[in-house]
Amino acid sequence: MLDIEKVRKDFPILKRKVNGKPLIYFDNAATSQKPQIVIDSIVDYYSNYNANIHRGVHTLSQEATNAYEEARIKIQKHFNAEKSHEIIFTSGTTHGINLVATGFSSILQKGDEIIVSALEHHSNIVPWQMLCERTEAVLKVIPMTLKGELIMEEYDKLLSKNTKLVFVNHVSNALGTINPIKKIIDKAHSFGAAVLIDGAQATPHIKPDIQKLDCDFYVCSAHKLCGPTGIGMLFGKEEWLNKLPPYQGGGEMIAKVTFEKTTYADLPHKFEAGTPNISGGIAFGVALDYLNGIGFENIATYEKELLDLATKKLLEIEGLKIYGPLENKASVISFNIEGIHPFDIGTIIDKLGIAVRTGHHCTQPIMDFYKIPGTIRASFSFYNTKEEINVFIEAVKRARNMLL
Ligand code: ALA
Repeated sequence: MLDIEKVRKDFPILKRKVNGKPLIYFDNAATSQKPQIVIDSIVDYYSNYNANIHRGVHTLSQEATNAYEEARIKIQKHFNAEKSHEIIFTSGTTHGINLVATGFSSILQKGDEIIVSALEHHSNIVPWQMLCERTEAVLKVIPMTLKGELIMEEYDKLLSKNTKLVFVNHVSNALGTINPIKKIIDKAHSFGAAVLIDGAQATPHIKPDIQKLDCDFYVCSAHKLCGPTGIGMLFGKEEWLNKLPPYQGGGEMIAKVTFEKTTYADLPHKFEAGTPNISGGIAFGVALDYLNGIGFENIATYEKELLDLATKKLLEIEGLKIYGPLENKASVISFNIEGIHPFDIGTIIDKLGIAVRTGHHCTQPIMDFYKIPGTIRASFSFYNTKEEINVFIEAVKRARNMLL
């Protein structure tokens, strides 16, 4: 069980007021708030052992290197990857996807096929379109139902011996749908295709077991997991990471450089050119420790209570429609009120101290599918409370009454 009052004390920002009202932060799918222990780890690095890593024999450099590499091992263990060198530090999910998409430019051939889903974020659409332009591969899309689920029978029809890659998100950022990724991975593998899972929205709620999933690539961002921005991870199976060429050239990723020829470093350094976000990597590890201390089962149980309460109360509001009204989904609710632009509701409730995201959520194809310009999205975290949901519901009702 979560001691919610104790948990809230870990997050300094939850004490602040916005527009004179206590902050109610329901934009967790965009980025999570940070506990003091994560903030302290960044201050500690810069105050006490700031140095570049993998480059010096001096004490500070060794301390920084050890802390950074320990974070890599924490990430490996958290996701149950087999080998620590299968974990590549990135600047975030988008970087991880682009690294893989760029690498496949030298592997794909004209006529090869890539499958994505209708539920993807732009960051899991655009890099593959760019890859198709470079290689003349063909992009195919698994369609979705009005309830926000992927149509698996259609996925079966899209798969063929031409399918080389499949990319889906684990959880939809716009609707909260939890996709059946194990089935998607197994079916793709039966055709010899590689699978990348975008875990940006799943990892705050679910602890994925990468070996059980057997995906070829898994990407996520630390900032949605109580960690800092500008750091994330790409898991890639060793055999795939060995096949892909380096993404960026520079220091750290080489074995030997001459003007005639350069050979590359072993994994993971082959993909980590330049000085990385050292404090970010260390803080990512601290954030995972913090979340594991709370427990992902506790997080899932509590967030489901918040989701169920908010769903029930929102549906009592006349003219309100929830998109992707699934029983089993992540703690994200996208909705609109008939006759009102989502932006107007977002602006009014901000005046009452409530932060939600409004707009297309970087998922224009989903908005086009529902024929809407955008939604109001409330996304809950384990540090939110039922009292906050009650205040939010009253605020939405008040905004509705002002606007209609
Ligand atoms: N992808 C993030 C979101 O859904 C930014 O808000």
